[in-house]
Amino acid sequence: MAEVVIVPDAAAGGAVVADEIVRLIRANPATVLGLATGSTPLPVYEALPPRLVGVDVSQVRGFALDEYVGLDVSHPESYRSVIHREVVEPLGLDPSRVNVPNGAALGIQHAGDDYEAAILAAGGIDLQILGIGTDGHIGFNEPGSSFASLTRVKTLTQQTRIDNARFFDAVDEVPMHCITQGLGTILRAGHLVLLAFGERKADAVAGAVEGPVTASLPGSAIQLHPHATVVVDEAAASRL
Ligand code: GLP
Repeated sequence: MAEVVIVPDAAAGGAVVADEIVRLIRANPATVLGLATGSTPLPVYEALPPRLVGVDVSQVRGFALDEYVGLDVSHPESYRSVIHREVVEPLGLDPSRVNVPNGAALGIQHAGDDYEAAILAAGGIDLQILGIGTDGHIGFNEPGSSFASLTRVKTLTQQTRIDNARFFDAVDEVPMHCITQGLGTILRAGHLVLLAFGERKADAVAGAVEGPVTASLPGSAIQLHPHATVVVDEAAASRL
């Protein structure tokens, strides 16, 4: 059973998770962080810079959860761009130590295996930050994803494309495909920290934390992990 931490608001949730990340980096400067995109983890990334003053982050490594396929990496909404803008620059991380799955069409057939190999070579992810989609997806593992899945190319559901259209000019501009860490990849991380804020996420949170462990709600995979923490506000916790 995941540990559930109910916080007054997203900023407080960001602070709780940022404190844990700083504790990890102080204990092990070569900490490997699993980085999520979307709006949910932003309060974590915003809370980190003031807490990292005087902390050596030069050896910290990062692995993003996912990336769009076929979106040029220079596009402002490619997850490579987003991770650079929201995480690498403000936290002062070494860009060469922060990895994002390669969503370029060239070499896409090897990209998943290459990413898994890079995670293994880094010694695995110590703390994986997760958001959750309204349909219960984590990373881009949509309903039906295998709990044993590793990093691979997937097709986005129309619901996720609609949800993510706010980052683009129109839903048609949201890519059709993505490359995402699998549920199996995510379950190998040392500590899972899933954040969710707002009533919109209440059903997905209830399913992930208390529902049956089922591929129909990929977030329920966290129940299989021995060290999972769910950080939610009252609204997201309202159906627990
Ligand atoms: C995207 C990301 C997920 C994220 C989800 C929720 O689909 N690939 O990693 O958890 O959106 O997004 P938000 O946090 O903006 O609600």
